Amino acid sequence: MEPSPATSTTVCVTGAGGFLASWVLKLLLSKDHYVVHGTVRDLRDGKNAHLKALENAGKRLRLFKADVLDYDSVTSAIAGCDGVFHIASPVTPVPSGLATNPEEDVIATAVIGTLNVLKASYEAKVKRVVVVSSVAAVFNNPNWPKGKPFNEDSWSDEDCCRKKGEWYSYFFSKTLAEREAFVYAAKTGMDIVTICPALVIGPLMQPTVPTSIKVFFDIVKGEGETVGNRLEILLDVRDVANALLLAYETPEASGRYICSSTPRKLCDIINISKSLYPNFTYPQKFLEVEEEDSTTFSSEKLQKLGWTFRHMEETIRDSFESYTALGILT
Ligand SMILES: NC(=O)c1ccc[n+]([C@@H]2O[C@H](COP(=O)([O-])OP(=O)(O)OC[C@H]3O[C@@H](n4cnc5c(N)ncnc54)[C@H](OP(=O)(O)O)[C@@H]3O)[C@@H](O)[C@H]2O)c1
Repeated sequence: MEPSPATSTTVCVTGAGGFLASWVLKLLLSKDHYVVHGTVRDLRDGKNAHLKALENAGKRLRLFKADVLDYDSVTSAIAGCDGVFHIASPVTPVPSGLATNPEEDVIATAVIGTLNVLKASYEAKVKRVVVVSSVAAVFNNPNWPKGKPFNEDSWSDEDCCRKKGEWYSYFFSKTLAEREAFVYAAKTGMDIVTICPALVIGPLMQPTVPTSIKVFFDIVKGEGETVGNRLEILLDVRDVANALLLAYETPEASGRYICSSTPRKLCDIINISKSLYPNFTYPQKFLEVEEEDSTTFSSEKLQKLGWTFRHMEETIRDSFESYTALGILT
């Protein structure tokens, strides 16, 4: 049954067909009172077809064609909404030597896109916007004490992002976009909460392989037969979706929230993966490294709102089951 306008909450999710956004949509549609506006860049693209198959989509999901760089298209999708989940942003490393313009394609798109969404939300009198940032906006900070888990006080700096080579534009795009979001909040008084997730994996709904799952495959395949047994963080996409909803629904939520699970040794991650999918060429030997050299995060602030995350074993198992079913493992 469709909720009546008096009891329903209408929210907009940008970049609805993406990996994380698809799970946010599924979660929202599983709750009877949400009516969801989802933005996609191409309504006819098969990569967004899974959205229409989500339970309750027929009754409570309306898709809008919108590019975050096109203010008018964003305005149409956000009109009439009580809340916005701004998730759309380019997620891509830029291989060196490739003739692209990362400053424009990645950084400007993230920043202008975020400002367009915030401005449209302000005009539409949206009550809260949850912006998805990333730990990329947190850990590229050379001044943070070595070995101390990063928390919400840490901000990435441009020079440090620049040293990350092909990831520079992505890391810096997330940093600038999140900073601009808080500048906008301070200027307008708008209620903006940001979530900074670590590397996200988990079951997939769409047929395209998102960048973070490619990164996960690179991590477990390693760079050779012997790898450093460092700590790695894998976060379940379903837990990140829960974090976004919690940040939206909890009145006292404010500022930024790091969203990270417990770091695990690479050998554990690889052993679990190997038992589920033996066909990758996995590293065979592990060299012990100082734990201090691993990048770790504190999600204490988010956990105080009631956020929890599942065991990594469950995430990896459900991931490989889904990737096998989709036939994306090669
Ligand atoms: N996955 C992770 O490990 C991770 C970690 C931390 C933060 N995040 C953040 O989470 C968000 C979602 O990432 P994801 O992993 O789900 O990646 P994804 O599947 O690639 O999703 C990115 C989405 O952004 C959309 N998009 C890009 N440029 C756009 C534009 N100009 N206008 C409208 N939409 C645009 C894409 O639409 P198209 O399909 O049309 O290209 C896609 O739906 C991003 O903000 C990312 O930075 C992800």
